[in-house]
Amino acid sequence: MRTHDEQQVVTGVVVRPAFHFTPRTNWMNDPNGLVYVDDRWHLYFQYNPEGSDWGNMSWGHATSADLQHWTEHEVALSHRPGEQIFSGSAVVAPDSGLVAYYTSAYDDGRQAQSTAKSTDGHRWVSDPHNPVLDRGTTSFRDPKIIRHVADDGTLTWVMLAVEADDRKVLFHTSLDLRTWEYTGSYGPLGAEGVVWECPDLVRLPVDGDEGDQRWVLLLSTNPVGDDPDPGGSSMSWVLGRFDGRVFHSDATQLTRLDHGRDFYAGVTFDSAPDDAAVMLGWMSNWRYAADVPAAPWRGAMSLPRQLSLRTIERTPVLVQEPAKFIHSLLTGAPEREVATPWRARHDAHAVIEMHWDPTQTGTVRYEVRGDADVVLSVEHRPDRGEVMIARSGTDAAALHPDFPSSTVFPLRRSGGVRMLVVVDGPLVEVFFHGGEAAASHLLFMGSDTVTSRLSSTLDGPIALTMAGSVVADRPERG
Ligand code: FRU
Repeated sequence: MRTHDEQQVVTGVVVRPAFHFTPRTNWMNDPNGLVYVDDRWHLYFQYNPEGSDWGNMSWGHATSADLQHWTEHEVALSHRPGEQIFSGSAVVAPDSGLVAYYTSAYDDGRQAQSTAKSTDGHRWVSDPHNPVLDRGTTSFRDPKIIRHVADDGTLTWVMLAVEADDRKVLFHTSLDLRTWEYTGSYGPLGAEGVVWECPDLVRLPVDGDEGDQRWVLLLSTNPVGDDPDPGGSSMSWVLGRFDGRVFHSDATQLTRLDHGRDFYAGVTFDSAPDDAAVMLGWMSNWRYAADVPAAPWRGAMSLPRQLSLRTIERTPVLVQEPAKFIHSLLTGAPEREVATPWRARHDAHAVIEMHWDPTQTGTVRYEVRGDADVVLSVEHRPDRGEVMIARSGTDAAALHPDFPSSTVFPLRRSGGVRMLVVVDGPLVEVFFHGGEAAASHLLFMGSDTVTSRLSSTLDGPIALTMAGSVVADRPERG
């Protein structure tokens, strides 16, 4: 599917992320089988145990007690002759331990859904009758099992899986997690020339009101064909209704979930405490995933994000709040007011929270760069109610012609601006207003200390709190 020749890219030091999951070595893509059980978060992932390119797809495995520190374990589900183990999900089943569903991708091109069981999350036994759901097609994949509880308390298992080439999500239901009844499909809509991948469906209260629950479909789309969109793969969400059988929506378009270039295949954990919808995504893009340095790991997970719906300008918006530990990293760090232009050299693992009053500051521009000629700039433009994010520089262009990028997205106009920048080695995630907008990018900055810089068109102050050792911090002169 995606074997590429190894490319030589000069990026200097690639710093391993400190609070994002990366495998010790080798290729990783989608998060799989996300499940919380016995006080542990289990993360499985698309993994090549034998190399740093896509291939031999298997499920790698890691666990965490706090979503911040991860321990990698033995491969949980291994590819076998004639069959790769593609993406899927896991649930805690009453009385029967953990049940996983994954796509068996056979060498003859068929894709069908298979199941495996485990009591401890480490040793998995595949069902001898696999695949248990086979349509005889070649792009039927990425089963995500969710629960639907009817008003009378009956639990139905629901499987979402894509017919990727048809841009459809198929729904099947089951009472025993083994035999499945087809109940309908959703799609196609939105851009043509893409495949649909890795669906998920979450029920979220609007503004925390448990009496006003809506369903949000999460979807990943990847351009294909002779002239694919150079923007590459990205995620979207759609608001709708779910009756336990099939998802309906009045939406005529998909809404972009993350405005960066590197957030894909995001799905949520089953059985998270308090029923929270906690999502992890893969921080890369199929457009160039095979061209980023293998250092010796190739592929990283995003920060965990807790999903909610918030009414903004009379519309429910999907909010993605970064994991709580990010805020605890900031605890104790002093907040100060900085005058622009300002810059600080700090280590490549940093959390920076900023807020300002745009009537006092005008347009604010934040930039981060290291020793390589690659820079991420984020510009808030209050007059237009928008943010522009660009990744540029000669080293960005050298990595892949489509690695430089520039995007503009709207941001609510009311009130002050709150921006959180999380830098962890080559990963930069930016959140506005506690997750009302998010943008994730890979940024190979080439050094273990990097420079953050702030400038603005007016003189008003910017309040800044920073976690991460600062090497030098000063207003810029001239
Ligand atoms: C998404 C995806 C899935 C597939 C897996 C294969 O990134 O293409 O559709 O199951 O990756 O590794």
